[in-house]
Amino acid sequence: MVSNAKCSFTTIKPVIAENGSNKQQQQSNNFSKMKTMHWFYNQSAIDIAATKPSVRLTPATLLYAGKSPDGSHLLRSAQYLQKELPVRIAHRIAGFRSLPFIVGCNPTILAVHELYIKSFYTASETPAITDLECEKQYTKLLRQMLNDHKDVVTQLAGGFRECRKHIKNEDLVRSFLDRTLTSRLGMRILAEHHIALHDEKPNYVGIINVAMRPKELIEKWCDFVTNLSEMKYGKAPQFKLNGHLNSSFPYIETPLDYILPELLKNAVRATVEAHYDSPHLPPITITVANNDIDFIIRISDRGGGIPHHMTNLVTQYHYSSKTSDRYSDRGIFGNMLNELNESGSTMHGFGFGLPTSRAYAEYLGGSLTLQTIQGIGTDVYLRLKHIDGKHDSFRI
Ligand SMILES: Nc1ncnc2c1ncn2[C@@H]1O[C@H](COP(=O)(O)OP(=O)(O)OP(=O)(O)O)[C@@H](O)[C@H]1O
Ligand SMILES: [Mg+2]
Repeated sequence: MVSNAKCSFTTIKPVIAENGSNKQQQQSNNFSKMKTMHWFYNQSAIDIAATKPSVRLTPATLLYAGKSPDGSHLLRSAQYLQKELPVRIAHRIAGFRSLPFIVGCNPTILAVHELYIKSFYTASETPAITDLECEKQYTKLLRQMLNDHKDVVTQLAGGFRECRKHIKNEDLVRSFLDRTLTSRLGMRILAEHHIALHDEKPNYVGIINVAMRPKELIEKWCDFVTNLSEMKYGKAPQFKLNGHLNSSFPYIETPLDYILPELLKNAVRATVEAHYDSPHLPPITITVANNDIDFIIRISDRGGGIPHHMTNLVTQYHYSSKTSDRYSDRGIFGNMLNELNESGSTMHGFGFGLPTSRAYAEYLGGSLTLQTIQGIGTDVYLRLKHIDGKHDSFRI
């Protein structure tokens, strides 16, 4: 616990019941013993917060919010998050509660549900942020919450895989995962942005790179996936970049740092596997196109394409060609990439790469589409809207 005269923040503050009179004593009870199913579904503070609307910001609002020498921009940002995060977390908790009961009872899913409940109280019971000292404590709390939630995607993937046999309605899983994962992305972007507002990094406003060069980001992830492929297969295809390689514009790298390695990993894997016995691997061509409205990254591989019977399935959660049982195992890069991924927050090998990337792209006002030529290869088109505020924008 961190405390000072004005602000007292706790990093984890489970509230067992809501009867204020006995709160202190109740909190000292062993938390885990009290986790009855009743507890998960009866939290009136959460019910109230879940009825409030979320206030989503355009990236341009973040970009042009400005920096004040007296740090008032930090105060405003923290005060916004202090109001907003509990509401968003409460919405997600409502999502967990609306899962079919047998799915919601899965221990892994329940553990994530519990994490969200704990975070709700952690985020909502912070003292008013009235000065920069309070803001500092709040920022520390945000870091802690980001860390607490870093494995949520892996946990959800594992949890849903364990209980899929009970799920009759595929759409229900898809919409729950789409909403939970994109909401998590939004909250992480906002929290990371606030934390980064403290840094003086050239070219950055918070986590927005004001002159992002897609070429550099793509090259970084090509190198990453090349290393991975060389370790796994002893070889890797070349990458050829073309198009608007000199383009630069404001953008948030966080979602691209998830999407690009996922798409490149798929292209590399398909290429290596389709040409495994051949001494020559066809290159993967990456085209960058930039225009006033959006930018497009096309990844073209010659990895044999996606078979007809799979084309409609590959963007479903848990669909992976790597196993005969579509729900049961990890992709070939799975464990290795998980170990190598620096952020530790990304999950691999569950058939999550394409559906998660598509959900993120759509959340950011863009799209992810695939064109495949069976027997030859696949083109993946990632389209993302600009965030410079000149045109209609998505909201985070
Ligand atoms: N470029 C591609 N060429 C051929 N098949 C592809 C390509 N991209 C995806 N696929 C097929 O789509 C399936 C689903 O891809 P997705 O990225 O969602 O999951 P995964 O790669 O199996 O596992 P994960 O990405 O979670 O590690 C893959 O298993 C593969 O069969
Ligand atoms: Mg993949």
